[in-house]
Amino acid sequence: MNLALSTPILPAGEAAVAAAAHCLREGGLVAFPTETVYGLGADATNPEAIARLYQAKGRPAFNPLIAHVGDLEAAQRIAHFDAQAIALAEAFWPGPLTLVLSRTEGCKVADLATAGLDTVAIRVPAHPIARDILRAFGGPVVAPSANLSGHVSPTTAAHVQSDLAGRIDLIVDGGAVAVGVESTIVGCFDAPMLLRPGGVPRGEIERVLGRALVQPPDDADKDTGQPLAPGMLASHYAPRTPVRLNANRIEAGEALLAFGSGAMPGVDAAAAVMNLSAHCDLAEAAANLFGYLRALDARGARAIAVMPVPHHGLGEAINDRLRRAAMGRE
Ligand code: TXA
Ligand code: MG
Repeated sequence: MNLALSTPILPAGEAAVAAAAHCLREGGLVAFPTETVYGLGADATNPEAIARLYQAKGRPAFNPLIAHVGDLEAAQRIAHFDAQAIALAEAFWPGPLTLVLSRTEGCKVADLATAGLDTVAIRVPAHPIARDILRAFGGPVVAPSANLSGHVSPTTAAHVQSDLAGRIDLIVDGGAVAVGVESTIVGCFDAPMLLRPGGVPRGEIERVLGRALVQPPDDADKDTGQPLAPGMLASHYAPRTPVRLNANRIEAGEALLAFGSGAMPGVDAAAAVMNLSAHCDLAEAAANLFGYLRALDARGARAIAVMPVPHHGLGEAINDRLRRAAMGRE
């Protein structure tokens, strides 16, 4: 066994929380569960720790990180909240919503974490273990999804281990996550903007705002300079196997990512079949999405054929991740 390739995994509990907080204080990297996906945490005020985090993920340094904090009060120390932002925070925190806001003068989040932008992305996670770690540590924790850059996001500790073992200091295992897609990101600009669809459906946010969210400009989706949401990198969520969307039949040797109970011509010749939700439950489909993409990616199929998923509610986030997966890497 190669010790350099292993990272300790602790089951969620008091000891793991204390070890995680200690590790963060020492500038270490800790993977922990949030309700959306597993995050890879570092002390948001420690530029060396953040540099190691970018290195461990192989992430382009211009892609800024989300600062995770325990509550709205902590968030207001690092960013300016107007009435709209407060309404969103009160409606959805703790939970799968990230707000992009202008930094305060005293904001201690390192420039390296915000990629030099004068805005900062903030979220208050709902997962009890994430909350315990934030409380024990006592400061903002930056945490991108705990996967290698370009891979699909991890929804179990085993996914984290398969991407990052030996590259990070600790993994806290809290079992499978509940939501399964990353947080929704809203830019709190003059006109609030949907920077990334995610765990809170657009409609629920628009109901609180009393207005429609605007779309980012088209060129924000390109891998250039400083786009509005650099995480919109077209190739962000790609498995290695090609992904074919809106399949209405299966070609021999393809794997099927199904949705619903409809019949699929050619399914008998499929290399593997997994169903995101047989009874068309979009929340169940979101929770299964990344795990099933990983599992089918490991089957050596010639492609992963994906049945259409309806676009309402959480379907917008699911279809966004599937579209990125289909674009492939590079
Ligand atoms: O659910 C989640 O949000 C998970 C869990 C771990 O909290 N985190 C996550 O982080 O998905 P990450 O790093 O994979 O995605 C963060 C996204 C990226 O698309 C990044 O470009 C965007 O947030 N972002 C961060 N700061 C930003 C800013 N100031 N302006 C615009 N986009 C920003
Ligand atoms: Mg990510």
